[in-house]
Amino acid sequence: MKIAVLPGDGIGPEVVEVALNVTKEVCKKFGHELSYEYGIVGACAIDKTGNPYPEETHKLCMESDAVLFGAVGDPRFDNNPNSKVRPEQGLLAMRKKLGLYANIRPIATFDSLLDKSPLKAEVVRGADFVCIRELTGGMYFGRPQGRSEDGDTAYDTCLYTREEIERILDLAFQYAMKRRKHLTVVDKANVLATSRLWRQIANEMAPNYPEVELDFLFVDNAAMQMIQWPTRFDVIVTENMFGDILTDEASVITGSMGLLSSASVGVHTSLFEPIHGSYPQATGKDIANPLATVLSAAMMFEYAFNGAKEGALIREAVAASMEAGVVTEDLANGGKAYKTSEVGAWLVDYIIKA
Ligand code: IPM
Ligand code: MN
Repeated sequence: MKIAVLPGDGIGPEVVEVALNVTKEVCKKFGHELSYEYGIVGACAIDKTGNPYPEETHKLCMESDAVLFGAVGDPRFDNNPNSKVRPEQGLLAMRKKLGLYANIRPIATFDSLLDKSPLKAEVVRGADFVCIRELTGGMYFGRPQGRSEDGDTAYDTCLYTREEIERILDLAFQYAMKRRKHLTVVDKANVLATSRLWRQIANEMAPNYPEVELDFLFVDNAAMQMIQWPTRFDVIVTENMFGDILTDEASVITGSMGLLSSASVGVHTSLFEPIHGSYPQATGKDIANPLATVLSAAMMFEYAFNGAKEGALIREAVAASMEAGVVTEDLANGGKAYKTSEVGAWLVDYIIKA
């Protein structure tokens, strides 16, 4: 198992350290030989090299079996609309160059946290769905993108090709086959041409998956249904920007952004990352919730290393830590808040004893 470790910016290094410690312990337990190497990406890479995704980091990723990634982003760049180079470009370049066209974001409630969601427990109980977000197309990458010469007009391009749509829908149909066989395509086909092409292609492909129940929702309606009736969903597939927005919204169902993990898969090395960002206000304070990254490490075992048992042990440890009340402040709800590193130590200890 060769892993590229890219902590990135903000709380990235703190949460990745916890996930890496958990990974090391699991490897010991199951007798896997682990090697890993650190790389830079995001603001820290701009500071060192001027490039948010240096060629050296790309080479490291290409030569590894999996990438464990933290977060990128830095307020120094957010507040400066004129900065030519931004940390987020590092993440986008990495997704594009590694061909990571599918971002898989599972959303499931934890019984011990039902009262942590701002939504009523009876609404979120039993919610268990997966959002498959297209990750290398749409407005994030469509060109032209820019400003008019006088600076008073700006434009982005939303562009999708048949090939891009087919491969992500294929993955989504197959995913649905492994679950409850219900696929919801989220789009804005009443307004956007790209969405109408998505819908057309989904309908063309449906006969290849006769067992899958296929339905369509406009994204505004989906945003509403997701928090009003989250148990109606099994697998959602959607374009890049809609998926970005909907998955932040979906984190409310589980009770914290700090719990949602993800896998980005595609042509080259798969990447595993929490969906929360760099959370600059918490940087260096040892307070960020490491569980999203730890659960991303579980996905790494499951997706990249065929390690169902390893993944299950990590999930068991995470559930046990929450049941024991060993949680960071976002989940403490007035009770004792543990440090990031303390949660990490508890998880490692659980795995040793398991
Ligand atoms: C995410 C993040 C990124 C995105 C940012 C950091 C570019 O919000 O992974 O969801 O918009 O894709
Ligand atoms: Mn996002």
